[in-house]
Amino acid sequence: MPDKILNVASICGSLRKGSYNRMVMNALQGYVPDGMRIAEAPPFAGFPLYNADVQNSAGFPAPVHALAEAIRAADGVIFVSPEYNYSIPGGLKNAIDWVSRLSNQPFAGKPIAIQSATGGALGGGRMQYDLRRCMIFLDAFTMNRPEIFIGNCSQRIDEKTGQIKDEQTITFIKQQLAAFAKFIVQHGGKS
Ligand SMILES: Cc1cc2nc3c(=O)[nH]c(=O)nc-3n(C[C@H](O)[C@H](O)[C@H](O)COP(=O)(O)O)c2cc1C
Repeated sequence: MPDKILNVASICGSLRKGSYNRMVMNALQGYVPDGMRIAEAPPFAGFPLYNADVQNSAGFPAPVHALAEAIRAADGVIFVSPEYNYSIPGGLKNAIDWVSRLSNQPFAGKPIAIQSATGGALGGGRMQYDLRRCMIFLDAFTMNRPEIFIGNCSQRIDEKTGQIKDEQTITFIKQQLAAFAKFIVQHGGKS
C-alpha cells in the first residue's frame, strides 16, 4: 500500500445519461486497491467547440480551467470512453484540445490509464490507440498494460443497476487498477 492516498481523476468520454462507460466509471471505486481514491473530474459537456479565436478574445472558459485544475491536482487520470467511428468521441477530443492549450499543460508528466466499453466486439481498441497518440503529444505517461476493452458491453453491464455483471471483466479491472497504483508511484504522481 502506498504511503499516501493516490487521488485519481476519472473522465468519461460519453455524455449520454444511460452511458455504459459512465456505469463502469461509477463502479471503479469498488475495485480499487488500498490507498487509491477515484473521483470524477469536472464535466466538459458545456465546453464550446475549440476555436483559437474564442481563446484569444474571451480567454479560456471557466469549465476548462476547472477540468485542467482537477487533472493537475490528481496523481493520475483514468479515461473511460466509448469508441466513436473507430476513434475518440468528439466531445472528449474537444475537451482535450481545450485543456491542452493552457500553459502548465495539465497532462504533462501525468500517469494515464484507459478503459473502454462499446457495443462492438473489439471494445474500443481503436479509440484507445488514438487517445494514446494524443497523450504522447501531451507528454503524459500512459500505462501500456493491462488493457481494458469491454466489448459487447450490454451483455457485461446491467443497465438497470449500473453494475458490472461479468466476473472476468471485474477481475481485469481490479488488475488494471492495482497496476495503475504501482505505475503512478513509479512515475511520480503529481507533476
Ligand atoms: C457516433 C457513434 C459512433 C460509434 N462508433 C462505434 C465504433 O467505432 N466502434 C464501436 O465498437 N462502437 C461504436 N458505436 C457504438 C457504441 O460503442 C455504443 O453506442 C456504446 O454504448 C456507447 O457508449 P456509452 O454507452 O458509454 O454511451 C458508436 C456509437 C455512436 C453513437
